[in-house]
Amino acid sequence: MTKKIVVLISGSGSNLQALIDAERQGELGSGTITLVVSNKKSAYGLTRAAEASIPTHVRTLKEYKDAGKTREDFDRELAEHIEESQHPDLIVLAGWMHILSPAFVDRFRGKIINLHPALPGELDGAHAIDRAYSEFKAGERTKTGVMVHFVIPEVDKGKPILTQDIPCVEGDSLEDLENRIHVVEHEILPKAVKLVLEDNLSAA
Ligand code: GRF
Repeated sequence: MTKKIVVLISGSGSNLQALIDAERQGELGSGTITLVVSNKKSAYGLTRAAEASIPTHVRTLKEYKDAGKTREDFDRELAEHIEESQHPDLIVLAGWMHILSPAFVDRFRGKIINLHPALPGELDGAHAIDRAYSEFKAGERTKTGVMVHFVIPEVDKGKPILTQDIPCVEGDSLEDLENRIHVVEHEILPKAVKLVLEDNLSAA
């Protein structure tokens, strides 16, 4: 019984690529990516999806605002589109840079997971890597990390599924730290997807 995965992206999609590669290598268990959604027309992840023959769907907040509609309209109607077209077993936020309101989260509660480049309880929200680096340079931290967690309405607060510490190394540039983090992200995300799908992990 294949389990349908919908991946939401906003940018390069290197984590989407890690999921595509993992599926090809049989490392996602029964999971298969059936749709990639982007809130940015220019997201390179859309090209990655097309090259893997995965259907894509683009829906931008700008379209909604230009039409006099709200974020809640965007979230609710995106949720309806995903539910009606896919009936997904899992939704993966992989570099999705749009805070989802309860209008979306509550519809899929327990089957939305998010990748965040920080440890639980630290550096919630955007620019987590930059903030970790600044704190490292200020002598306020010696490590950071990556987590995959269940999504609840509070940003980056849901129950962790997998986490990994990542050291900050003397002499690191921001790019060095970013690269070290991305390598770990590409490893941890497919493992978390498999874990949730195969072990029926629950968000409770
Ligand atoms: C990743 O670092 C992710 O943790 C953060 O945005 C980046 C997305 O990268 N939220 P990509 O689009 O998957 O390459």
